[in-house]
Amino acid sequence: MPAELVCFEENCRARFAISEVLYNCRHCGGLLEARYDPPEQSALMLKRLWRERRTSNLPLDQSGVWRYREFIPFLPGYNCVVTLREGNTPLLESRQAAQYGGLDRLVFKHQGFNPTGSFKDNGMTCGTAQALRLGMTRVACVSTGNTSASMAAYASAAGLQPIIFIPHGNISYGKLAQALEYGARTLQVEANFDQILALVRQLAERLGIYLLNSINPFRIEGQKTIMTEMLDQRDWRVPDWVVLPGGNLGNTAAFGKALREMKQLGLIGRLPRLAIIQAEGAAPFYELMRRRRGKRAPRLAPVEHPETLATAIKIGDPVSWPKARHEVTASGGVVEKVTEQEIADAKAVIGRSGIGCEPASAATLAGIRKLTATGVMAADADVVAVLTGNVLKDPDYIYRYHTGSLDAPNGRPIQSNFGNQPVIVPNNAERIAAIIGS
Ligand code: F0G
Repeated sequence: MPAELVCFEENCRARFAISEVLYNCRHCGGLLEARYDPPEQSALMLKRLWRERRTSNLPLDQSGVWRYREFIPFLPGYNCVVTLREGNTPLLESRQAAQYGGLDRLVFKHQGFNPTGSFKDNGMTCGTAQALRLGMTRVACVSTGNTSASMAAYASAAGLQPIIFIPHGNISYGKLAQALEYGARTLQVEANFDQILALVRQLAERLGIYLLNSINPFRIEGQKTIMTEMLDQRDWRVPDWVVLPGGNLGNTAAFGKALREMKQLGLIGRLPRLAIIQAEGAAPFYELMRRRRGKRAPRLAPVEHPETLATAIKIGDPVSWPKARHEVTASGGVVEKVTEQEIADAKAVIGRSGIGCEPASAATLAGIRKLTATGVMAADADVVAVLTGNVLKDPDYIYRYHTGSLDAPNGRPIQSNFGNQPVIVPNNAERIAAIIGS
């Protein structure tokens, strides 16, 4: 069996054909994941092959996802792949951010350098390939913005019709604008992300539309390559920590699976610890992992009205929590939560170092600062933080922060501790020279 879908639930493990249109186990309702036989090549051969492909002009090799295709072998062939040259995102070191986070060194894996500006592109190239392989014509997703922007682009590029569902008034204009520009049928629903996901899951089945939320196991396969590329870029030196924001927890599931599989294949010798950071007002996974100590395996208690200005992670009932719990535990990882003020300040620090990111991404640095302060993370630890989205995704937030007009969801003003006010000046060289001089 070269590739199959397997139920993630330990006491079920039902198996299904890789070409079934299925998002949950038909027996127990559990999450599904793709499983494969190990590749023919040795770890050393794979490393060489993947490195060589960086000099190739073949679209498939130029993709930072499909370059690692032996690691995600769910397709019988590659004619249905549409690539916008996703992945290929840099590792960027920031001295200022390291200092702010209480670390000697800090490196960001910046997924905002993707074609639509977020890590969703890594997964979406795989999701759309699978949609084409299954003969689907329409694809749908619910989104806090980035998934919809990415799906709109990839589906349109693939000749599929994208239909997106977004919480009305709760996504940034940068993301909404992308969906419109890339030609998605855009439905703004008067409900929150979790409510809309339940709605769309019913509709997808009824209308025969392929669902491309991160519940889709092929999206997870694509997002695995973020970790593969990161390690390839580090010449396979494993960091001590990988830090990422947690929303619907698809990325946590993907990174954990990738790291475990790379260890099984002998590509790496040990696992880095995962640190998942949530926004205080939308932190059901943080609460779950905190409660874990007492009872045995409690279920996640959804947050009914999640609140955060980091709208990308404004999710109260994350779908992938069982996978995420497994991955955090397997890696000896931690979950932390951070305030709106902490996110806003961390974001400005990342911006000042010339890197920039969207609010949800900055939760990583805010979390690192807390984890070093409490001694969980050592100052000399080797840390890679994943910036999930581009700085231009949410310009309104930036303008408000720097001009002192950003309010938290509870109405309390956010202090612009690292504010950078623009100055209005008259059309007068003398006066301007005086202002700049001072
Ligand atoms: N960061 C950004 C910029 C995101 O857009 C998301 C998720 C996350 C972090 C959280 O990742 O869900 O895998 O835990 N955005 C989704 C969307 C939900 O619809 O665009 P996760």
